[in-house]
Amino acid sequence: MKVIDLRSDTVTKPSDAMRQAMCCAELGDDVLGDDPTVTKLEKYTAELFQKEAALFVPSGTMGNQICLKAHSEPGWELLCERECHIVNYEVGGPAVHSQLLVNLLTTEHGMISAELIKNSVRPLNIHCPLTKIVALENTHNRHGGTILPQDEVLKVKKVCDQFSLIYHLDGARIWNAHIATGISLAELSAPFDSISVCLSKGLGAPVGSLALGSHNFIEKCRRERKLFGGGMRQSGMLAAAGLYAIEHNLKKLQADHENAYYLAERLNRLDNFDIDLNWIQTNIVIANIVGKEDSQTVHEKLSESQIGAIPTSPTKIRFVTHLDVSKEDISEVVDRIDSIYA
Ligand SMILES: Cc1ncc(COP(=O)(O)O)c(C=O)c1O
Repeated sequence: MKVIDLRSDTVTKPSDAMRQAMCCAELGDDVLGDDPTVTKLEKYTAELFQKEAALFVPSGTMGNQICLKAHSEPGWELLCERECHIVNYEVGGPAVHSQLLVNLLTTEHGMISAELIKNSVRPLNIHCPLTKIVALENTHNRHGGTILPQDEVLKVKKVCDQFSLIYHLDGARIWNAHIATGISLAELSAPFDSISVCLSKGLGAPVGSLALGSHNFIEKCRRERKLFGGGMRQSGMLAAAGLYAIEHNLKKLQADHENAYYLAERLNRLDNFDIDLNWIQTNIVIANIVGKEDSQTVHEKLSESQIGAIPTSPTKIRFVTHLDVSKEDISEVVDRIDSIYA
């Protein structure tokens, strides 16, 4: 039976054409600043997002953590959403690397309202930590690939300006928000002082992320990247995969979104799952499990049927569509699940 892996959009393998692009890449030593393909990717991405500069880093985690480190001083307070990747899946990075105090704000679908941010800024007095950074995530992974409403993102920017807060975006899947809304990458990222974006999620590159921001900020990030051990030498081979991914795979995200909605809609017809289709906005489907089984049991049954998925809580299981699964594969997934529970 064919394995249909919906654990994450990180599982894609480079296509033959992408591998060809990697093989042919012009190379240099990027730590010494002369890998032409890395430079090309950084320039190209900076232009796409209309930021002054970009820095190629090995992972989204490093992108986020370097940005936080380059922005901050020990003891500063970071406001972020309770389910965000930066806090839940980056091994305590804000505390370990930057000695940040984190205030986790609860939301229903991932967007922290301007009002909640405003009410969470601590008064300037000798007893309080300095509230200095806001980090959002677009699309929001643990909320099921939800898109942040741009009008609220802009309202938060006003609060950031009012209280001199630094505004960071974990834009690992900003590409999906762009394709789903039609809002340009530049417009989506304009309010933010820094963004981290990933090439190795839906875009299908094997490795790589970029941090974006002002020239000065990115030069600070370059130092931090070296300190983190993330300086890479002939990394043009990886950058070539990233360039190929943006040029050829960005538009294909639309198909992932359609497949996710199709999956959610079909799963919802089964008695075992309940999904609010209004919140299936991009390529992530988090299904509520109905009945007595917990997510581990469901996960085991899916694994026996060669379906990859990830439990995200005792009552929820996550499926992610990507470049390497077709609509036919999704149909096959639903048929297999149907026969498990028939
Ligand atoms: C929203 C979000 N941010 C950051 C990351 C980190 O990316 P990486 O796995 O490349 O460190 C991920 C990974 O899945 C993610 O989903």
